[in-house]
Order: sequence, then structure tokens, then C-alpha cells
Amino acid sequence: MKAICWYGKHDMRVEEVSDPKILNPRDAIVRVTLTAICGSDLHLYNGFVPTMEKGDILGHEFMGEIVELGSAVKNLNVGDRVVVPFCISCGACFFCQKGLFSLCENSNPNAVEAAMLWGHSPAGLFGYSHLTGGYAGGQAQFVRVPFADVGPIKIPQSLTDEQALFLSDIFPTGYMAAENCNIQPGDTVAVWGCGPVGQMAIRSAFLLGAQRVIAIDSVPERLRMAEKGGAETIDYDEVDSVLDVLKDKTGGRGPDSCIDAVGMEADGHGVQYRYDRAKQALMLETDRPIALRQAFLACRNGGTVSVPGVYGGLIDKVPFGAVMNRSITIKTGQTHVQRYTRPLLERIQNGDIDPSFVITHRLQLDDAPEAYEIFKHKQDDCIKVVLTP
Ligand SMILES: NC(=O)c1ccc[n+]([C@@H]2O[C@H](COP(=O)([O-])OP(=O)(O)OC[C@H]3O[C@@H](n4cnc5c(N)ncnc54)[C@H](O)[C@@H]3O)[C@@H](O)[C@H]2O)c1
Ligand SMILES: [Zn+2]
Ligand SMILES: [Zn+2]
Repeated sequence: MKAICWYGKHDMRVEEVSDPKILNPRDAIVRVTLTAICGSDLHLYNGFVPTMEKGDILGHEFMGEIVELGSAVKNLNVGDRVVVPFCISCGACFFCQKGLFSLCENSNPNAVEAAMLWGHSPAGLFGYSHLTGGYAGGQAQFVRVPFADVGPIKIPQSLTDEQALFLSDIFPTGYMAAENCNIQPGDTVAVWGCGPVGQMAIRSAFLLGAQRVIAIDSVPERLRMAEKGGAETIDYDEVDSVLDVLKDKTGGRGPDSCIDAVGMEADGHGVQYRYDRAKQALMLETDRPIALRQAFLACRNGGTVSVPGVYGGLIDKVPFGAVMNRSITIKTGQTHVQRYTRPLLERIQNGDIDPSFVITHRLQLDDAPEAYEIFKHKQDDCIKVVLTP
């Protein structure tokens, strides 16, 4: 089969690799019909995630048709059309039982390595380095799905692939980010980053009752899409201080909650940005927490900072005094996707939202090297790329 393989920083190749096989009775083999590139894949593409190996198959946002089932999977049939959550979860362990699916303690075979870096190990993830299991991902024609009796969700024929695909990641991710804000009537939510995750967070915040959403980015077409979703916007390139503008917009008090949908590769300007770039280059800091610092400082007293943006390791100059002295709650995590697939499928069916609004580019799996470049550099007004194998 064909698959997108990682060969190093900015080196993705479409290669012929062996077809996946059923290894365990709870596995399924899915023939991928649609897959996407995520902002998280850019962290791999840009070489910020350790333990990648040449030839690793990428991709954690995918859907398709079940073509083979292990003997223990009783709730699915060959021929079913499914979306697969990006986290691999057994459904039975301490964490899965609590609905904390991205913390499953049975799905990361490299848990010891992960615990060395993070203290404890999270779940295994599709196509996301050996630290999270080394699983082959779904930017391929076929993929092996472990614990297929738990993760995949059947999609009704009334929905197109494009409408359903983002149940695998970015819709639940934006939704969990907003849910973590514990939004109350009248609340104002600020969202850093108007990439696909930010866009889903903006719309989810309104679905969950926010009165106002203020979105921050510097990319014009992304800000325009945020406005279409009902947000007020701040172009951080056009203002002296994002914090001052947010204060002005909220009567001096600050947003009730702040969402960092940017993560470890934040851009910016000025001394802080150059400081982070330098420290990152010297390996004295792994991530650039520019949006995170702003979110902590901007958030109103007693508010919540919700962090769907991915961080990998160590960050510097984080104003933790602000967090402690002003009673700020931090909520974060890889998304517990399995918790959201059913209720959010209902939201799509009800017409509350059609997540395909975010798609700007439709390409073939063979175009992967170009697709990664277009998405990374936001060329041609690119916001989200989907690929057909
Ligand atoms: N928690 C999860 O489970 C989960 C799931 C999916 C993605 N993510 C993460 O969410 C983040 C966003 O993903 P995406 O697909 O939207 O990526 P993306 O790279 O397309 O979007 C990031 C956006 O942030 C903007 N940005 C950069 N610096 C900024 C700054 N200082 N202030 C405001 N905006 C800034 C960029 O212009 C861009 O539009 C990534 O870190 C990704 O890894 C997390
Ligand atoms: Zn993702
Ligand atoms: Zn589990």
C-alpha cells in the first residue's frame, strides 16, 4: 500500500510499504477513504518531536471502511464506514473507565520511555512518534486500528466523509478546549490561534453558551474565518499589546477564560520571541510558550486557561506567579476523543455545526510533500488540508 512516511525534518515521502495485518483479536483493518494533516503533524514535520524514526507512517485524523476484523470485535462489521479517534484506548483500564481515554494505561508499549520524560505515560497515539507507541498512522491507504471495539464510530450514510472526518480529532479537541472553560452565561472567551483547532474552539465556545469570543492570530484569512464564526478578532501583528486590547475589550477585567490553541511553535515578535527562538535553538527550552504566557496574564482573576495546544517538554519564563496569586485554573490534555464522538456526531446530524467549513485544500495522498509545505507556510490561504488515498 501507499503511505506518507517521515524521513526527517521537512522530508515526507509517499512510499510503498507492507499492508497492515491483524495482530490482535481486537484489531480492525480500515481502508482509509479520507485523511487530514493536523497542526500536531507540523510539530513532527518541523522536527520538534523526539523518537521519530525514518520510515514512520504519519497521520492521526482518518476515516474509512472496515475491511477486516479481529475475532473479538463484535460491535462492527466488515463494510462499516467509521471515523477513528486519534488516541488508542482499551476502554477498560482505570483511566478509560473515567473517560480519560488519552491517558489509557494499556495502549503505549513504550510507556517506560514516555515516563522518563513526563513522569508517567499517556496513551498510545496513531502516527505520533515512538514516545506514544510508534503506531503506524492513517495517512495511508490502510491502517491497523487496535481496540477497534472501543474507538471507531459508525457514520450514518446521510453524512459525507468531509462532514464526519474531524470527529477523529479537531472537532472534539476544540470542543473539549471550550468545555474545559466551564463557560457561564455572559462569558467572554479569548482564543489564541485561528488554525483548525482554534476555529473549532471558537464555534464550540458559542455552542456551549459563550456570549463573546475574541480570537487572536496574524493570518488574515484565518481571522476572517473566525469572524464568520462570530468572533471578534485581534491581529497580533497590528497591535502594540494583545493584553491591552483584551483589557480594553473586557472593561479592564480580562476574558473569563483563555484558550491556547497555538502550542509549542508559537510565533511573535520582539524580545520574548527572539529569546524563545534562541533558547530553543540551543536546546535550553523545547517549546515556545508565547501564547501561553499571554493567556495566563490576560485571563481574569479566578478564570480558566484551557490549553489544547501541544507542548512537548520544558518551557521558560512562564508567569506562574500570575496563575497562583490570581487563582487561575489550568485545564489541558490530549483530547479524550472517545468521550466526544457520539455527542458531537449528534451535533453534526442536528445541524448545530458542519465541521467541514474549515477545509480549504483537497489533495491526493501522492501530493503529501506539497500538502505539508502548503499547510506549514499557510500558502494559498490554506487552513486545513484533506487527502484522498
Ligand atoms: N490537545 C489535543 O489533543 C490536540 C489535538 C489537535 C491539535 N492540537 C494542537 O493544537 C495546536 C493548533 O493546531 P492547529 O491544527 O490549529 O495548528 P495550526 O498550526 O494550523 O494553527 C496554529 C495557529 O496559531 C497561530 N499563531 C502562532 N503564534 C501565535 C501567537 N503568538 N498568538 C496567536 N496566534 C498564533 C498561527 O498563525 C496559526 O494560525 C497545535 O499545537 C496542535 O498540535 C492538540
Ligand atoms: Zn491532531
Ligand atoms: Zn485504557
